[in-house]
Amino acid sequence: MTVPLQALSLAELRQRTSEKWREYPEEVLPLFVAETDFALAPAISRALEEALRLGDTGYVASRTPLAAAYSAFATRRFGWSPDPAGMRSTADVSMGIVEILRRVIQPGDRVIVNPPVYPPFFDLVTEAGGEVERVPLRDTGTGWTLDLDQIAQSLASGARAVLLCNPHNPTGTVHSAESLHALAELAAQYGATVISDEIHAPLVQPDVKYTPFLTAGPAAAEVGFAVTSASKAFNLAGLKCALMIAESEQNRAVLRGLPVEVEWRTGLFGLLAAVAAFAPESDEWLDGLLMTLDANRRLLRELLAEHLPEARYRMPDAGYLAWIDLAGLGWGDNPSRRILREGKVALHFGPAFGAEGRGYVRLNFGTSPEIITEAITRIASLRSVEPAE
Ligand SMILES: Cc1ncc(COP(=O)(O)O)c(C=O)c1O
Repeated sequence: MTVPLQALSLAELRQRTSEKWREYPEEVLPLFVAETDFALAPAISRALEEALRLGDTGYVASRTPLAAAYSAFATRRFGWSPDPAGMRSTADVSMGIVEILRRVIQPGDRVIVNPPVYPPFFDLVTEAGGEVERVPLRDTGTGWTLDLDQIAQSLASGARAVLLCNPHNPTGTVHSAESLHALAELAAQYGATVISDEIHAPLVQPDVKYTPFLTAGPAAAEVGFAVTSASKAFNLAGLKCALMIAESEQNRAVLRGLPVEVEWRTGLFGLLAAVAAFAPESDEWLDGLLMTLDANRRLLRELLAEHLPEARYRMPDAGYLAWIDLAGLGWGDNPSRRILREGKVALHFGPAFGAEGRGYVRLNFGTSPEIITEAITRIASLRSVEPAE
């Protein structure tokens, strides 16, 4: 029987040495960077403990077990069976995106991103020699969608690639099969490439239908790459392992043509952990995590309604990141600043996600109900106080 996961206690979490727990002093509650506060899935702990016992800390010998594990995972979770022959590994999703982009664009080519979006996307495009073409998500009043008309215009005027976030960080949007299908058709029409970042895909809630981009029709398989990892769902970002996936012969050739060094950067601990994460024995842990996140996203809705009625929040369909509009509080374009300084809660800065993020904060609810409650209580207490400056 699936049971919800319990987060570690604050005292335990404070002993962690990762970015989330060391960036700010102890009095600050950290709900910013995308790390989660749960113990590892038992199969991952076992795999890593065994490697430690053996001093198995060298280079990765073969990516085959990882590719096979992901293909089986995608079959069970998304009804998609990508061919392991079309996969290569690297250190992380960001690196995979940059390495693919470098090979599918020429220096100075425009690459479409859809703000508000995971801030490093802007830098990854530049790192690969491209120029960022911003086509914001469209706010439908009840959710967000890709602005296919604008994307079509950008592609028609020469943009060469789309860096898609599927599911989307920070809004938690799971793009519809129809919109992905249409995006793929447009990319095919204009000879462009779509790179789909699917790092949050394992975290789609069970009541929502997830479409891996490469399954969104024949054009998608032709024009697309997927880049993914176990790192967000299973909290393995420090272990450095990600997968790049292509289906069409042309795009597989791109992956085959990557320098061998790209694959050598895969971390062995990351690979061992990812194989354990994608194994059937970790499904129950993942289901437990999804239950916890479901409860947390609802708790957040209740807390905001009760204590911060000015906040506008739509529950995400995937992940553990909440995109909250706090403009109604009148705390300026970047409310996270005051919340950090005076409320001692660290949230991610809305404007870092693009101009569309003015007045917003991103809150990580991959933690305990107690920490979420304390964070919202601290933020709400600022409502009755004049800003310090
Ligand atoms: C959409 C998205 N892509 C990539 C990353 C970073 O992944 P990696 O550490 O594998 O580069 C994150 C991290 O939060 C993310 O949200």
